[in-house]
Amino acid sequence: MANPRLYSGMQPSSGSLHLGNYIGALQQWRAMQSDFDAFFSIVDLHAITVPQAPDVLREQVRTLAAQYIAGGIDPDRSCLYVQSHVAAHAQLQWLLATITGFGEASRMTQFKDKTAKGGQEAASVGLFTYPVLMAADILLYDTEVVPVGDDQKQHVELTRDLAERFNKRFGKTFTVPKPVILAGGARIYDLQAPESKMSKSADNDKGVIWLLDEPARTAKKIRSAVTDTEGSIRADRAEKPGVTNLLDILAAMTGTPVAALEEEFAGQGYGVFKTAVADAVVAELAPVRERTLELLGDPAELDRLLDANAERAAEVADATLARAMEAMGLR
Ligand code: TYM
Repeated sequence: MANPRLYSGMQPSSGSLHLGNYIGALQQWRAMQSDFDAFFSIVDLHAITVPQAPDVLREQVRTLAAQYIAGGIDPDRSCLYVQSHVAAHAQLQWLLATITGFGEASRMTQFKDKTAKGGQEAASVGLFTYPVLMAADILLYDTEVVPVGDDQKQHVELTRDLAERFNKRFGKTFTVPKPVILAGGARIYDLQAPESKMSKSADNDKGVIWLLDEPARTAKKIRSAVTDTEGSIRADRAEKPGVTNLLDILAAMTGTPVAALEEEFAGQGYGVFKTAVADAVVAELAPVRERTLELLGDPAELDRLLDANAERAAEVADATLARAMEAMGLR
């Protein structure tokens, strides 16, 4: 029997992935790709919901493709492609938008978060309908599982609702997907503000570990991570968010459960602990960084690979789109 279908994606909206993307998504994808028929997209149509400079965006798409491969996605096994190269995404998005409630879309917390600073008046309509495009991404591929960090869970729930609603109204057309969220690493926090998630748009760069940062810079950021004055190394999200975050990071880097790390570091100081975290992160990320830079040395090869995979993706996506259009009476 064929492996179940998996779909996930990331935005090419910065020059490098951060450690939250790596632990919450890429590391999981790598582990899952042998048991699933996987599609991994670079969601450039999502990235343009906020202003992007065209030349910078083009480069960021390649850089993200290189990071996927360097992080362990095998482009011969999994389909790694760019969302805008497959026209069906934007087309299905429109069909799904017509069955999405305005109130339902208004309840998406990420839209509220992303517009908290600048206000909703200044946001694009594209940013508002962003989750509907994400639903189109997932549903086009008859996806069963969607591995994401927990900030995307609500969007996957909306996708499920839309699939069920469409199937009920127009006849069975879509597979209803399930989110898969890693315990522990589902949310990695900012090193300087450990009550906020690590994010591309952080105010203070010292709180964010970038995959393409120089290793010495990464180690320094971890050694200066905010902790607390209690001095004990134990997980407690409410009272010790900084130490808890570092424990989650070390667990993800080494595969050792947090409880075993608490035992290992019992009685040790924060200095020793932070050095261990820094060493583990650098050991994991330095080879990924090097391989990314190597791959970026041959942009033509990356483009060739993305073109070939977009063709593969379009075959699957076009068939689903045709089914959905027919069901709605459009063909
Ligand atoms: P994006 O690009 O914001 O993030 C990519 C992935 O990284 C996870 N993530 C985190 N995980 C743990 N801790 C953090 N601090 C952290 N920050 C980000 C995200 O949960 C995500 O899994 N809308 C999506 C992209 C998308 C998508 C899709 C995903 C578009 N279409 C279809 C799955 C399926 C997004 O903006 O991810």
